[in-house]
This record gives sequence, structure tokens and C-alpha cells, in this order.
Amino acid sequence: MGLGLAGWYWSASLVPSTYSVMDMGHMDYGGGPTHAHGAGRSVAELTGPASGEPDVAVELAARQESVELAGGERIEGYTLNGTSPGPAIEARQGDLVQVTLTNVDVPDGVTLHWHGVDVPNAEDGVAGVTQDAVQPGEDHVYRFLAEDAGTYWYHSHQVSHVQVRGGLFGTLVVRPPRVPDEQDVVAAVHTYDGRRTIGGRTGVSQVDAEAGEPVRVRVVNTDNSPLRAWVSGSPFRVVAVDGTDVTGPAELREEGVVVTAGGRVDLLVTAPARIDTGGGSALVVGPEGSEVPARPAPDRQVDLLEYGSPVALPFDPASADRRFGYEIGRRIGLLDGKPGFWWTVNGRLYPDIPMFHVEEGDVVRMTITNDSGDVHPMHLHGHHAVVLSRDGVPASGSQWWVDSLNVEDGESYEIAFVADNPGIWMDHCHHLDHARDGLIAHLAYAGVTEPFRIGGAAHNEPE
Ligand code: C2O
Ligand code: CU
Repeated sequence: MGLGLAGWYWSASLVPSTYSVMDMGHMDYGGGPTHAHGAGRSVAELTGPASGEPDVAVELAARQESVELAGGERIEGYTLNGTSPGPAIEARQGDLVQVTLTNVDVPDGVTLHWHGVDVPNAEDGVAGVTQDAVQPGEDHVYRFLAEDAGTYWYHSHQVSHVQVRGGLFGTLVVRPPRVPDEQDVVAAVHTYDGRRTIGGRTGVSQVDAEAGEPVRVRVVNTDNSPLRAWVSGSPFRVVAVDGTDVTGPAELREEGVVVTAGGRVDLLVTAPARIDTGGGSALVVGPEGSEVPARPAPDRQVDLLEYGSPVALPFDPASADRRFGYEIGRRIGLLDGKPGFWWTVNGRLYPDIPMFHVEEGDVVRMTITNDSGDVHPMHLHGHHAVVLSRDGVPASGSQWWVDSLNVEDGESYEIAFVADNPGIWMDHCHHLDHARDGLIAHLAYAGVTEPFRIGGAAHNEPE
């Protein structure tokens, strides 16, 4: 009897070897109208512009090989065009971007996901959800309009907990038509095998800038854990978060800033200045040879909930069409037959995760709570959400738009967004080991069908 029940729990926890994410878990309509599934447009049809000359055309060749870091150290990992990070992609707002990804020899297959860019669904690069993993010898073309200026990055979304950590990523910057008069530096922070780097370089790097010149430092956190950045030698402002400008950013001197895993923060400093990103990694912007003494990491971090000046939201979250809960917990149980202490979403274990159903045009509110004992950087694909409140305290600063939100243990955030990008979208923890362990959910639009499969012939394994 006892054994029989245990056997039932065990088999009920098993994840099938191939399945559609649409068959996973349970439907959640967020209190809005329900709708039938199975008919409508396929994810594969929701592409970017199929014709037209690209303004930016990039070819990226993915390899599994040893990576030489900028300082000469070698680690086993992945490269794009022979380097990690891969090439920095730069575009102007409105450009048609075309990226041809070739998998030279990554045995598990690869994809590219445009983290933070609200691309059409078929360009989102999630193996088994928006495409099949690209096998060795194959290629795949991504085409999308760079509609929103900002700091973004790209990374593989096939076996991502291994491939991203191993270096299969790069940065993407979309500049506005009128670029402000400032130097512009991208600082992608990544930890290779325990070595914290900026742009693939350990230790302190230097970028030339004239004394007194404003410099925008685009800090990109490509790791699994939040990082703290702080500035020495100059006051600074946080001028953008996750690609969206901050309104009325005040000058900061004492505080540092938290950059959530997957998130980006643009800092405006005045050269010469030093930006520390922890683990001994730092960037000095200033005339050659400038020495900016590093101050210790500050205790206080700027609170984006109240930073900057408020402006009215472009939609009314008070008249939400759907309200979802994304409660993160942890408990002992079986995941795919393996006993462990696993993450839960709304009290249940993967694969019994929610499928948040919306209709195009819905105003959606979501409350993310975390009682799991760990921090989770929550990332919704294809959309930007605005933070309404944290622990019941309403946001009082600039509009705080995120695609990656640092939810600390014990915290609760309420966010809102407009469902304006039809498709099937991942909504997961960007600590990619947590995602692999089932801390994921999906957002699905009515009238969109899923042709791809997790597992299957392409061995799709997005996490
Ligand atoms: Cu940066 Cu689901 O990804
Ligand atoms: Cu997590």
C-alpha cells in the first residue's frame, strides 16, 4: 500500500522524453475569460520581417572549444566567431537586424535568445518552444527590428545552464537616432570558471576617455547571481535599467547598484572614474595611465523603487484583465523521479507549473513572491513589465521597467505589463541552474499553437 502510493508519486513526477510545453502543468487564466486551444497561428509564423535588406547583418559561428580570455587564461567552454564574449552587436533604433547562427561543432545544439529585446516570438531563440536547437553543421537566421534603444545581450537558450556559463553569449546595444554626447562603453560581466571578468578580461581594464567627459557604462550581468557595481572617483547616475531610460535620475555618491542576473544597468559617470563589479573586476574610464583609487564596496545600494522622478504609466494597471500569482517556494519531493529539495511554483513541482494564459491586448498584473530561501532573478521573455510595488510599498520613482527582476528571499513584487506580443514565452528564473531544476513557467496567448517539442529529434532542452 505504502509502496504503491510511493510508486504512484514517483511515476507522476516523471517528465516525458518529448512533449509540447502547451501540455505541461496547469492552465491559469488569471481570473480572466478562458479560451480554447489547439487552433490558430503557429509560433513558427510569428517571425520578424521576412523581406528587406538588413541594416545590420552578422554571422555567428558557435563552437565548443577552449576559450582564451583577454588576459590569456584558458577555460573549456564555447565561442562565437572564436571569442567569448561573442561579437558585440550594435544597431540603431529601427534597424533591421539579421543574425545568421551557424553551429560548427556544439554537440548539444545551440540557439540564440535576444535577452531583453521584445522580438517577435519565432525569433526568441528558445529551443523546443520557438525553434529547434541548431545541430552541428546547421544554421538558423534571426531577423527582427531593433525597435527599442537600450542595452541587451544574447545567449544560447539550449542547455543554457551549461552553455551560457561556458561563454556562449554576447552583447547587443541599440542606440537612439540622436546619440547623446557621451562616450559609450559596454561592460559585460561574466564569471568563467570562478574568474570574474569584464568583456572577457580579469582584473582591471581601462578604456580611454578625456578627463571631464561623460561616459555611459552599460553593465550587463551575464552570471547567475546578482552583482553589485559601484563607482569610485566620480558621482554617477543610473540612466537606464534593462534597456529603458530612467526619468530624472539623481546624482549618486555613496550608494552602489545591484544588477540582477540577466539584467542591465547603464551608469553615467564622469571620467576619470572606476567602476567595480566585484570579484576583483573593474573598469577604469579615463586618460591612459589614470589611476583611480578603488573605494570599498558600499553598504547601501540605490533603491530603484524610489529612484528618479515619476511620470504617468502608458496604461492603467488598476483595470487589469488578468492577475497572476508566481509564488516561489521550495520543498522536498520528487522531480523527474529524483528525490530532492526542489523549487516550487505556486506550491507545485515541475513539470506541474503554471501556463499563464492571456489574450492580446490584456493588461496583466503579476505578483511574484519568494519564500524559497534564495534570491531569484525572474525573467519574462518578449515583454517589459513595470514594477508597481515591493512588499506592498508602491513604486514612487521613475517608471521602473524590467525584463529581469531580482526577487530576494522574503520579498514580494507586483508588476504589470500589456500583453502586446503574441506567442508562447518563457517566464523563468535566470539563475539558469534553478531554471534547469524547474523554476520556470510560460505565458501563452490565445490563438497561438506550439509546433515545437521539448526533447524530440532535436533534443531540445532550453534550460
Ligand atoms: Cu536570458 Cu530565458 O533567458
Ligand atoms: Cu532562481
